[in-house]
Amino acid sequence: MRTYLVTGGAGFIGSNYIHYMFRKYGDEIKIVNVDCLTYAGNLENLKDIEDRENYQFIKADICDREAIERIFAENDIDRVVHFAAESHVDRSIKNPDIFVRTNVLGTQVMLDSAKKAWELADGSFMADKKFLYVSTDEVYGSLEEEGSYFYETTPFAPHSPYSASKAAGDMLTKAYFDTYGLPVNITSCSNNYGPYQFPEKLIPLIINNALQGKKLPVYGDGKNVRDWLYVDDHAKAIDMVLEKGKLGERYNIGGHNEKQNIEIIHIILDTLREMLPDSDPRKELVRDDLITYVTDRKGHDRRYAIAPDKIKAEIGWYPETMFEEGIRLTIQWFFEHEEWMKHVTSGDYQKYYEEMYSSK
Ligand code: NAD
Ligand code: TYD
Repeated sequence: MRTYLVTGGAGFIGSNYIHYMFRKYGDEIKIVNVDCLTYAGNLENLKDIEDRENYQFIKADICDREAIERIFAENDIDRVVHFAAESHVDRSIKNPDIFVRTNVLGTQVMLDSAKKAWELADGSFMADKKFLYVSTDEVYGSLEEEGSYFYETTPFAPHSPYSASKAAGDMLTKAYFDTYGLPVNITSCSNNYGPYQFPEKLIPLIINNALQGKKLPVYGDGKNVRDWLYVDDHAKAIDMVLEKGKLGERYNIGGHNEKQNIEIIHIILDTLREMLPDSDPRKELVRDDLITYVTDRKGHDRRYAIAPDKIKAEIGWYPETMFEEGIRLTIQWFFEHEEWMKHVTSGDYQKYYEEMYSSK
């Protein structure tokens, strides 16, 4: 039985990935989920699979070398899928330190521990092992011109402390391949959306605020472009890269689904009005005049757009969920998980929210 070590599995994409893998492989695989449960890590995301015999949760910090080495020593790990990170750009602008610690130093601990566990006496590596670093399109910087895209060969030009720290982890991963031959792949994905996304990111924040008749904050002129991908399509791409990706290679993952932020907000409002029955009191809270232009994010990247040609040609992956369908699935999920939203929007998140928006 193949064993996967998933870091950051209690977060948004990690928990969707774990669900995807159990749906696809059932009892054929084992997953060890290592997460230190920051504000973004939520074990409620994994409630329905936590009793499986082939699943284990371990609360540990990826910067804790001793703990991570012990996990490798106690489990015969075949695949590492490294999601754990500080992931929110606005937080990185306020507090870059933790981003460097987790995204750079934590990644190096993960790489070192995998190397230690998998390296043979002659410096080669055990067969059929792989380390996948979950990177982001933000490492490539910002595109200005319509019609230009990020390719795997696009030089790195990160602007935010978040993307710079992800770029450092990304380059370290490649360095471990180039220097030691550690079997790795790197995937650079565009913006994800879907179930379990923490409501500090644009899409769940707008859904949540709109349903409560709260202001809908738009940074700058609202014309920044992001390339949105439904999270299950990302999970599938990671699985396919682990199966078929050539060692040492990077693969871009994206859906050719570029939209301005203001367009996204209008689609969400229209879809909410369409999906809510007239009898639902929240329907009249959903109003366009709540859209509020606020101070722009510092160093705000203008446009991201992924060219997913390589992953399509070499691996056979392509995005399956069109945005119209994905956004309906996401909204439906939030309708059905009001309790989840109540829990995550209490406590720390509220404090953070006030700090972030009170000055805007
Ligand atoms: P998230 O913030 O929802 O989840 C991150 C998880 O990592 C949380 O469960 C958190 O508790 C855990 N974590 C943080 N620091 C840790 C540490 N020191 N030790 C152990 N666990 C720790 O993030 P996400 O949106 O699910 O993103 C997951 C990965 O995918 C990240 O590496 C991110 O850079 C990358 N990515 C995200 C997107 C996106 O649109 N969200 C797009 C491309 C790539
Ligand atoms: P976000 O979801 O934070 O993802 P990222 O910064 O990693 O792309 O933001 C997506 C876009 O939405 C980005 O251009 C910033 C913008 N944005 C707003 O306009 N208002 C908001 O309240 C948030 C959270 C983001």
